[in-house]
Formats: sequence, C-alpha cells, structure tokens
Amino acid sequence: MEYTTLGSTGMEVSKLCLGCMSFGSGHDWMLDEEGGAELVERAIDLGINFFDTANVYSDGESEEILGDVLAGYDRDEQVVATKVRFEVDGQRQSSGLSRKTIEQELENSLDRLGMDTIDLYQIHRWDYDTPVEQTLRALDDAVRRGKVRYTGASSMWAHQFAEALHTSDRLGLERFQTMQNLYNLAYREEEREMLPLCEKEGVGVMPWSPMGAGYLTRPHEEFEATTRGEHESGVGRPYEEGGGKEVNERVQELAAEKDLTMAQVSLAWLLHKEWTRPSSGRRASSTWRRPSKRSTSTSRTPNSTTWRNRTSQSACRATSSRRHRRRRRRGRRGGRWRRRVER
Ligand SMILES: NC(=O)c1ccc[n+]([C@@H]2O[C@H](COP(=O)([O-])OP(=O)(O)OC[C@H]3O[C@@H](n4cnc5c(N)ncnc54)[C@H](OP(=O)(O)O)[C@@H]3O)[C@@H](O)[C@H]2O)c1
Repeated sequence: MEYTTLGSTGMEVSKLCLGCMSFGSGHDWMLDEEGGAELVERAIDLGINFFDTANVYSDGESEEILGDVLAGYDRDEQVVATKVRFEVDGQRQSSGLSRKTIEQELENSLDRLGMDTIDLYQIHRWDYDTPVEQTLRALDDAVRRGKVRYTGASSMWAHQFAEALHTSDRLGLERFQTMQNLYNLAYREEEREMLPLCEKEGVGVMPWSPMGAGYLTRPHEEFEATTRGEHESGVGRPYEEGGGKEVNERVQELAAEKDLTMAQVSLAWLLHKEWTRPSSGRRASSTWRRPSKRSTSTSRTPNSTTWRNRTSQSACRATSSRRHRRRRRRGRRGGRWRRRVER
C-alpha cells in the first residue's frame, strides 16, 4: 500500500480509501454486518487506514458496522471520515446544514461509530437554505470542542466551494480540507473548475465512484446485469454521456492488452492523477495489493496550513456510557432493521 498526505492536513492516509456506502440494509446489493466486517478487516490487512461513511448510508447502519469493526483495532492508526446533510431515517431535523442539524447529527454519528472524535467531517452537499457562514461556524465549534479534527465537503458547484473557502478565511474559521466529488474515467467534468480550484487551494481530493459504480468494471452493455448496476441505471448518473461508451471500450482493450481487469485499469488511471485518492466501493478488494514496506508517496501539496489546538490523538475510545447507549438503541433498532429486510 502507498500512503500520502491528505491535502494540507499533514495527516497520512492510504492512497486507497475504503468507501462504506455499501454496508447495511438500505438496498439489495448491500453487505450485511458480517460482509462489511470482512471487507474492513481485509482492507486493514492490506494496509488501508482510511474509511469513508455517512450518517445517511442505510440510515446509520454503515457507521455502526464500521465502528464495531474498528473497535477491535488501534483507533489511533485509523482515519475515519463521515458526512452530514441528507435526511436520516425520515427525521426532518437530520437534514440540512443548520447549527442544530450539525450538532445533533455529529453526536449521532459519534455515538454510532463508538468514537469520541471524527477525523474528517464532511458536508455531503451544499445547503441552499442555510447561510454558509452558519454552517462554517458550527463546524468550527465542533473542531474547537475536539469532536472533529478536519472538515471537508462533497459534490457542489466550484463557485459554492470557493465561496465557502473564502468565507472561512475571511472569518478565521476552519476551512474545508477535502473535496469528495464524482470523478472517474467516464465523468471528468470536474477537471474544468473544481479540480484546479482544489489544487490552487491545497485541498485534498477524494473521488467517489472511482469505477463509475461498476460502469468501468465491465462492458457497458452488461452494466445493468447486476443488482447494483440495475439500481445505478435508475439513478441516472451520466456515465454514457460525452463518450462514456467509447471510454468503456478503450478500458476493455487496455485490460485485455495488459492482462488486467477493467477495474484495475480504471483505478490505475485515477491513481496516476496527482490530486486524487479514490474511495473504492464493495468488491474493490480484488484490485488491492498487499502492503509493501511502508512507502510514502512524494505527492505532498506544497501548500501547508498551520493547525491550532488539535485534540489528543488517543482520545477516540468508545466510553462505556456511549457503548451502553448504543446497545440500548441497537435493541430498539433491531426490530426496525429486521422489518425492513423482511419487506
Ligand atoms: N460523497 C458522495 O456523494 C458519494 C456518493 C457515492 C459514493 N460515495 C463514496 O464512494 C464510495 C465508493 O462508491 P461506489 O461504490 O459507487 O464506487 P465504485 O468503486 O466506483 O463502484 C463500486 C461497484 O463497482 C463494482 N466493482 C467494484 N470493484 C469491482 C471489481 N474489482 N470487479 C468488478 N466490479 C467491481 C461493484 O458493482 P457491481 O456489483 O454492479 O459489479 C461495486 O459495487 C462509497 O462507498 C462512498 O464512501 C460518496
């Protein structure tokens, strides 16, 4: 495994981040607790130390599964990222980026993860109803209180991200250190505005769906052959626009020529972009390599930021009262999950 520095944070992460969106019972194609645990263990075995989840993934189940597995490992060695913005479990107040939502959802995420601090807390999208200044102040307070180490953002217009960075600089608040956006061989729109902005601002980039949610892992006519592929076609992501089919065919040719899988070719393309660290999803483990002796990439961004008062690196153990609350809530949730699976 190769490691690199995440944007201007100074924090070292594996170049591959394990995306945990596929953990839980939100859709048929997702992995249950056992499947998720197996994947996380395999990832750690291969040297991955960077995990991405969100409060909304299977209404918090993903965070619970990830937190449970990581509890068996040295928390200090892991970098955990989660997100806030979308509605969880039909609860109106869990949606958006107001101070109320951020404070409540942060506590809920910490509780489900069984941790005292989240390494990277990301806003999942822009909130058109809350002034960005309020969101940034709430996030800044979370950092001051030691609940969050760094903040990040995900998929928005570049002008919005620029406004957020400018506002935090103007007010002396924590600025977003990462951008998690859709970027892969079949979707390169981000090269126009967002990626140059991130490069200029020293923001770390963590592309989501690095293999186009499966589109870049098999011939395009077979994309819908899996349960996930069928689901993704319904979501309507623009993989086929702007020459996606031709790109897919070229990946097929290259994979055959080099005796690799299409997934390997697609990931390799991203890994050769200096600004990116792909978040891989389920099944990506077949493309990973066992860690060699810790080799650190030289792609550190020249732009470094000074960090004030970061919280203790060892303050991330689940407290007994938190564990107790989680168990109690699990007891309540058990029925709900089972009901959903049965439906
Ligand atoms: N910030 C956001 O808004 C956002 C949005 C989406 C995702 N994410 C993050 O990004 C992570 C990854 O997203 P993703 O799952 O869409 O990424 P992806 O890696 O592009 O797609 C994963 C899918 O590709 C197929 N696949 C993966 N590895 C394969 C292999 N080796 N061989 C063949 N097929 C393979 C599987 O689909 P089949 O079963 O169909 O083959 C799998 O479900 C998520 O877990 C989440 O953390 C963030």
